[in-house]
Formats: sequence, structure tokens, C-alpha cells
Amino acid sequence: MEIRPRETVNDTTRYDEAAAQATSSGFVYVAAAFAALGGLLFGYDTGVISGAVLFITKQFSLSTFPTELVVAVVLVGAAVGALTGGRLADRLGRRLTLLLTSIIFILGALLCAFSSSLAVLIVGRIIVGLAIGLSSIVPVYISEISPANARGWQASLYQLAITIGILAAYLVDYAFASSEAWRWMLGLAAAPGVLLGIGMIVLPETPRWLLERGRVDQAREVLRRVRGNANIEAEFEDIRQTLAQASERGRFADLKLPEVRPALIVGVGLAIFQQVTGINTVIYYAPQIIQSAGIPSASGAILATAGIGLVNVGMTVVSMLLIERVGRRPLLLTGIVGMIISLGVLGLAFHSSLASATLAWVAVVTLMAYVASFAISLGPIFWLLIGEIYPLRIRGLASGTAATVEWLSNLLVSLTFLSLLQVLGPSLTFWTYGILAVAAWFFCYYLVPETKGRTLEEIERHWRVSRFWKSRTV
Ligand code: BGC
Repeated sequence: MEIRPRETVNDTTRYDEAAAQATSSGFVYVAAAFAALGGLLFGYDTGVISGAVLFITKQFSLSTFPTELVVAVVLVGAAVGALTGGRLADRLGRRLTLLLTSIIFILGALLCAFSSSLAVLIVGRIIVGLAIGLSSIVPVYISEISPANARGWQASLYQLAITIGILAAYLVDYAFASSEAWRWMLGLAAAPGVLLGIGMIVLPETPRWLLERGRVDQAREVLRRVRGNANIEAEFEDIRQTLAQASERGRFADLKLPEVRPALIVGVGLAIFQQVTGINTVIYYAPQIIQSAGIPSASGAILATAGIGLVNVGMTVVSMLLIERVGRRPLLLTGIVGMIISLGVLGLAFHSSLASATLAWVAVVTLMAYVASFAISLGPIFWLLIGEIYPLRIRGLASGTAATVEWLSNLLVSLTFLSLLQVLGPSLTFWTYGILAVAAWFFCYYLVPETKGRTLEEIERHWRVSRFWKSRTV
């Protein structure tokens, strides 16, 4: 049974229903696709270093610690960028924040490509990280321009772009490996950065942010544009009324308000579980895992890794096709079960005394199953939900907070994975991620609401009148 917020019974119910029927114009697809370029840069810049680092180490004669630094500072920069980006997006607007993001991406990529010393390279990587963190505002931008019945797949374009970016990075690494051209590997990220910038110069601010800032005429004009001149008055009124009822003022202290806290717990919890269930051990270290399972040739391992990257992209598309039909919760819960099973089997395979050729194939297939399960669940749905579950007045700040926790959790897992492998061995390491995935399942089952087909305003009103543990349907 769907539980409707008590206070929506009168006018707002009428507005809700009309607003939920709103359609999109072709323009909204273009806007969403341009914004999603932020995800492409995110995926590319986090993925490309795995190949580039081999040659960087050689060029600057690096020992282990500086090498780890070159890899990991991006994650630190991203954590800082996500928090700053959230605040900026509330103050300056979503569009200007994304424009700034593109400029920082370009500067960072060029600095890395032309770096003459290790110090310059590290600064360049921090700058790239900042931009990656800032790009976490993309799902908010897309959610705020999309109609309720298409928001799921349109906001998932961000995750799709992340996976395409990762795959492109694997391929670029492969292409430049023989010439050891690491500067090209890092510098190429400037190109999509330019496209993102051009997009953000010509695309509009979101109607919701404009209305929040009192720019009523502009907001109405943009809403008309993204809805293709359909009748927008119901949706417009709905946003206006919800804003009038809001108690938040966009400050950090507001994150503790009773109507914000449940949504914050959902976002932060998903951020932690998205990472501690081990996805980036596969994304960053797949060739090493596959080699240790018994495919000795580096090129064989890299090829298998590219296969995993392809599965990641393909299953993200599948999730986008399903998300409006089956909803967020069923995809999330089913995908996490797939992750639990594949992590269990992967651990078993390393535990058993399989012949190395068999073990290698079992490892490749289970890694693919694991990534496929992530790609229909925790991957896209974390980013989608943090763009849609927070009240408008603190949407940037709250989603930036969740994204910061995501980056810090990523850092924790990336820094501990190799040591865990040494201390616990592969079986126990993968089983540990499997147990954390079981915890993730229960977290999602009890706390994550279904937002399919609901307008952002309905979701916002839901938290004011109802606690998430009483109703799993917004
Ligand atoms: C995560 C990344 C991960 C990627 C894999 C994203 O949702 O935030 O950490 O590398 O998915 O596809």
C-alpha cells in the first residue's frame, strides 16, 4: 500500500498528480546528456591511473609511497570537492557549479599531462580529484530538470557515463601502453571537460533552484522549455507550495532537522555500503586479481578486465531500462543478492584447490557477475537517490555530504585492500565484503524508500510527515 503524506490531501494532491504526469521535451535529453559528461570524466580519471601509474613510476623513479600518493590523492581531492560542490550548488546554482567543475577538470588534466616533477603531478591529481567531487552535483541537476516518470533513467545517465569513462580509460591505457605515453593518458580528459563547459554555458539553470532564489519568471520559462511547452502550472505551483512549507535554510545544522535526518541516514548509509562491499577493488585491481587467479599474461588479464568494463556498461543500460518499470527497491535488493552470491563464490574459488586454469575462469566469470549485480543496484541507485531524496533548500549540501562519505569510504577500501589480501588472503577478504553486502541488503530493505514515479516535491513532503521506517513507499 502506498502511504500518502497527510498534508497532501487537498490542493497539493491535485498538483502532485498533475505534476507526476509531466512530460519531457527533447531538450531535456540534451541537457541531461551534457551534464552526464561530468560522470564520464569521473570514470575516466579514476580509471586511467591504473595503466598510467606503471610508466609514471618509471619516469620519476618512484618508490611505493609516492606511487600510492599519485593514485590516492584523487580520492582525497574528490572528498573535499564533493562537500564544497554541494554548498556551492546551493549558493551559486547547479549550472555555475558545473561550469566551474569543467574548468577545474581541464586545468587538472593539463597540469598532469605537462607536469615536470612529482610535486606538480600530485597537485594536478588533487585538482582533478576536486573536479570529480564537484561533479557529484550532476544527479541533482538532472533530477531537478527531469519529469517524475523519467527521472530514474535520466539521472542514471551519470552512472552510465561513469562506466563508459572507466571502459574508455582501460582502452586508452591499452592503446598507449606500448608507447608508454602516460601524459596522453592523463591529458585526454581535457577534451570531455571542454564539452561539459560548452554545455553548461548554453544550458539553463534548474527551475527548482531558480524558484528557491525567488527568480519566478526565469523559473517558469525554464520549466516550460524542459517540458516542451506542456502545461507546467501544476508542477510550478507544487514546487512553490513545497518551498513555502520548508523549514530548512540551507545550513549544516539543518542536516540534523527531524525531517532531514532520515534521508541523510539513507544517503550516507548507501554511500558507505556502495564502497565497503568492494566494487573498487575490482575496478582498480581487476588485472592483479585475475593474474593471481591464474592468467599469467598481462595482456590476457587486461583483456579480461576490459570485458568486465563492458559488462559494467551493459548492465547499467539494463538497469536504466528497468528502473521506471520495476522501481528502485526491487533492483537494489535483487542486485545486492547477486553481489553476495558472487562474492561468496569468488571466496570459495580461491579457497578451493581448483586447477589454476579453472580458477582463473571461475574468477573472471564471478567478477563479471559481481560487477553486473552492482551495475543494476548500488552503482546507479546510490547516485540517483542522493539527487532526489533531499529537500530542495539543502539538496546540494545534503547530497554533497553523502558523496563525501562515499569518497572517504572509497579511500578506506582502496588503501586497505592490498594489506587485507596479505593478512587475510583472497578468500577471507572477499567474504568480508560479502558479509558487508549482507548488512547492505538489510539496510536497504528496512530504510531505503521507493521513489519511483513520485515528484521531488512529494518526496520532500513525505519526510515531513512520516518516518522512513514506517513507510517504504514515498
Ligand atoms: C562508484 C565508483 C565505481 C563505479 C563503478 C560508481 O557508482 O561511485 O566508485 O568505481 O560506480 O562502475
